[in-house]
Amino acid sequence: KCEDKTITYEAVKAIADNILSRIKVKPVIGIICGSGLGSLTEAITNAQNIDYKDIPGFPVSTVPGHAGRLVIGMLEGLPVLAMQGRFHYYEGYPLVKCSLPVRVMKVMGIEYLMVTNAAGGINPTYKVGDIMLIRDHINFVGFSGNSPLRGPNDDRLGPRFPPMTDAYNPALITRALSVAKEMGIPDVVKVGTYCFLGGPNYETIAECKMLHTCGVDAVGMSTAHEVVVAQHCGLKVFAFSLITNKSSLDYEKKEYANHAEVVAVGKSRESTCRELMCRMIKSIAAE
Ligand code: 6GU
Repeated sequence: KCEDKTITYEAVKAIADNILSRIKVKPVIGIICGSGLGSLTEAITNAQNIDYKDIPGFPVSTVPGHAGRLVIGMLEGLPVLAMQGRFHYYEGYPLVKCSLPVRVMKVMGIEYLMVTNAAGGINPTYKVGDIMLIRDHINFVGFSGNSPLRGPNDDRLGPRFPPMTDAYNPALITRALSVAKEMGIPDVVKVGTYCFLGGPNYETIAECKMLHTCGVDAVGMSTAHEVVVAQHCGLKVFAFSLITNKSSLDYEKKEYANHAEVVAVGKSRESTCRELMCRMIKSIAAE
């Protein structure tokens, strides 16, 4: 018998059907809101809220600054389902459970996954408040063999050995760069590589130096496992990081990362992040 309990297709389908039976629209876009970015959902009209605790089989998030509910409604003319609050590995859930909502979205019929997160800037040219479009990731948690795809594969959800090339849809990145120009913020928007670490502690200076050497531009505690699952099941992914603090690469210049700062910078950049997200959805609606 296999050691890892997987979540069966039937269990995913039961959650998807439960949500669909309670909502008035059929979402085509899924959104995962990062720390301090939950107010992205305020732009959603005719919103229906469903608390995670009221969805049988759904995990419940435990982090301050992360609510725990789905917001379903219309955004820029398209039906969307947004997660206000996500599940982190450091909360104690196995990765398959952290990324379960992505599979639920797929089985509900969603086609696009939009992901946001708060991240530390490793690239020395990045400033607090910058937005990094994620072009690629380094999944350090995955290097050790810890994957949401570990265990028996159900082909109804995706293939056994999925490629990760273009997991972050290149056309959506190109479009986001034009959107950034339209918004007059081309200097704020970067394109880079996100690194997923398990957390919940922030990185040591030596770790930051190593990540810098490895080609990492921003570091955080989420997203990569969600995107692995999204790519496995064939969702188109667009993701960006809000740089909420700078990781120190220098023993003389210490920075003490803290969650309050992460949430505060999220709040201060909320409207910019929301506008970027809305414009991206508008451009998908225009397709
Ligand atoms: Cl500096 N590190 C990690 N791992 N996650 C973060 C962060 C830093 N800033 C926001 N989230």
